[in-house]
Amino acid sequence: MSNAKFNLIVAACENMGIGLKGDLPWRLKSELKYFSRMTTKVKDPSKKNAVIMGRKTYFGVPESKRPLPGRVNIILSTTLSREDLPGDVILCKDLKGAVERIQQPDLRDIIENIWIVGGSGVYKEAMESPNCHRVYFTEIKAKFDCDTFFPDIPKTFKLVEPDHDVPADVQEENGIKYQYRIYEKSR
Ligand SMILES: NC(=O)c1ccc[n+]([C@@H]2O[C@H](COP(=O)([O-])OP(=O)(O)OC[C@H]3O[C@@H](n4cnc5c(N)ncnc54)[C@H](OP(=O)(O)O)[C@@H]3O)[C@@H](O)[C@H]2O)c1
Repeated sequence: MSNAKFNLIVAACENMGIGLKGDLPWRLKSELKYFSRMTTKVKDPSKKNAVIMGRKTYFGVPESKRPLPGRVNIILSTTLSREDLPGDVILCKDLKGAVERIQQPDLRDIIENIWIVGGSGVYKEAMESPNCHRVYFTEIKAKFDCDTFFPDIPKTFKLVEPDHDVPADVQEENGIKYQYRIYEKSR
């Protein structure tokens, strides 16, 4: 794989669940806003971030909200064809192909950050890659019925202090407590 660095972002509950029946197991509006803010924000206003996701994650986003606005959406799939997706969505066979695609001249200079946004297998492959820098992990302090789970975070990742724009204290919405955590690969 090329040497482009990427970060991963996920919300997982106490039993490490991330999804149920193609959707999120919970409704946390502020957490979704955090996801949008983190994956969209750029330092250079002429650039955009790329979001890389598996086929099921993409189709789990409500139709009216996909592709994720203000970001270059890259979908990983070996079964979809170009016509199954809107013209501005990029289709790649695997993570390696997606990262290489971002290095092509038409994207190289307009992409600022690369975010891996799920699901399970994509997260696993991403965390095993030497190019994975950080895991932005929302720790939801409750158990939910789930059918999709977050893989173990490799021991090479250590908890670090949150960035200045990431709330450090425990959040609460609809009686559900959660906290934004950042794990970074130690060198
Ligand atoms: N809580 C969170 O933060 C969060 C984040 C993301 C998703 N989710 C939830 O997770 C569920 C979807 O995740 P999922 O794990 O079931 O599916 P997924 O990873 O989104 O999609 C799986 C599909 O992606 C393609 N793919 C390409 N490269 C892959 C790779 N390296 N590993 C695995 N798949 C790859 C394959 O498509 P083909 O079969 O077409 O080849 C595979 O069948 C939904 O419930 C969604 O709401 C939650």
